Amino acid sequence: MILFYPDPNIRSGVLYDSFSNSPKQPEMHENKQTKNTCEFTEIPSESGKFKPSRFSVAPMLDWTDRHCRYFHRLLSKEALLYTEMVTTGAIIHGKGNYLAYNEQEHPLALQLGGSEPQALAQCAKIAQERGYDEINLNVGCPSDRVQNGRFGACLMGDATLVADCVKAMQDVVDIPVTVKTRIGIDEQDSYAFLCDFIDIVVQNSACDNFVIHARKAWLSGLSPKENREIPPLDYPRVYQLKKDFPQLTLSINGGIKTLEEAKQHLQYVDGVMVGREAYQNPSILAHVDRELFDENAQVTNTVDVIKALYPYIEQELSNGTYLGHITRHILGIFQGIPGARQWRRHLSENAHKPGSDIMVVEKALGMVTERM
Ligand SMILES: Cc1cc2nc3c(=O)[nH]c(=O)nc-3n(C[C@H](O)[C@H](O)[C@H](O)COP(=O)(O)O)c2cc1C
Repeated sequence: MILFYPDPNIRSGVLYDSFSNSPKQPEMHENKQTKNTCEFTEIPSESGKFKPSRFSVAPMLDWTDRHCRYFHRLLSKEALLYTEMVTTGAIIHGKGNYLAYNEQEHPLALQLGGSEPQALAQCAKIAQERGYDEINLNVGCPSDRVQNGRFGACLMGDATLVADCVKAMQDVVDIPVTVKTRIGIDEQDSYAFLCDFIDIVVQNSACDNFVIHARKAWLSGLSPKENREIPPLDYPRVYQLKKDFPQLTLSINGGIKTLEEAKQHLQYVDGVMVGREAYQNPSILAHVDRELFDENAQVTNTVDVIKALYPYIEQELSNGTYLGHITRHILGIFQGIPGARQWRRHLSENAHKPGSDIMVVEKALGMVTERM
């Protein structure tokens, strides 16, 4: 049996420490468990009931960890947030608390990596007990490691297995089980192939919610990074899929950089998922609630967001979290405004020093506010 734990090469954010290049010590901060699994549709957000999201931040290994998500949630109340992919092996056999999150992060989807229905079902059950709002199956990651474990994008070649996986999870949880996939793999890149894949999964599992990364994956020859850039995007194909499967909730993903673009996509599909732009230029999230959900919602002030993060940072520091593990996610927040470079530089040069505390962030913020 191949275990995906602990394997730093897979660069799973839950297993990998971006500062030390070594497996990271799992953080033991417990989240509260929900008491009643029948109440999962009730989300403690202003949006009221959990609903498939018009806007989500993509799962990103090593990036969308719990600190990142806490920060993103301060920027947008409405965006659906995804964890990094967590493998079934890590959850079942790992010693860490890989499902830890902060209650503020809701609505929150756990992305699972795996292809054994029973293992996925076991993990989905645990995730529901831990209060996650959605389980998402990764059918899009093309890395060699993931392929060796027969999951990720290569699962597109076995739609029946994907359906079995989804069904096994649906059988044991009440929360939505969704699938994030590509528009094809290798030479299997026709529209008919995509339709067959979706159809088999839908018919055999009753899955009704997919996120489609609008480019195919090459399973060999390209790195995961290249697989996010080289195969061309094909948005019309995803729009067509929505036309042909109007009963499904479909979200589109890939290369979306502005909320204007997001609005265009929303004319054709139900949701938009943004990855790199949300991470590298998080101020885009400050406008999501007003632009995409409620015209009366306030645009979040980014300086206020950083200040609102202080209590979280102090709490985490007192629990032994390293300042740099939090500040690495906030470097891009002032992109494009005066003082942004100084902010970035001050944090990058100081947050990793032993004993660094909140004063590092306060000083960096002053470099921005003094120029406002
Ligand atoms: C650093 C990084 C890590 C990623 N990790 C995952 C992952 O764990 N699971 C997944 O489904 N996709 C992962 N992706 C792919 C993104 O979710 C998304 O599909 C891709 O980046 C395209 O969207 P974008 O152009 O908005 O970034 C990752 C992307 C990046 C940049």
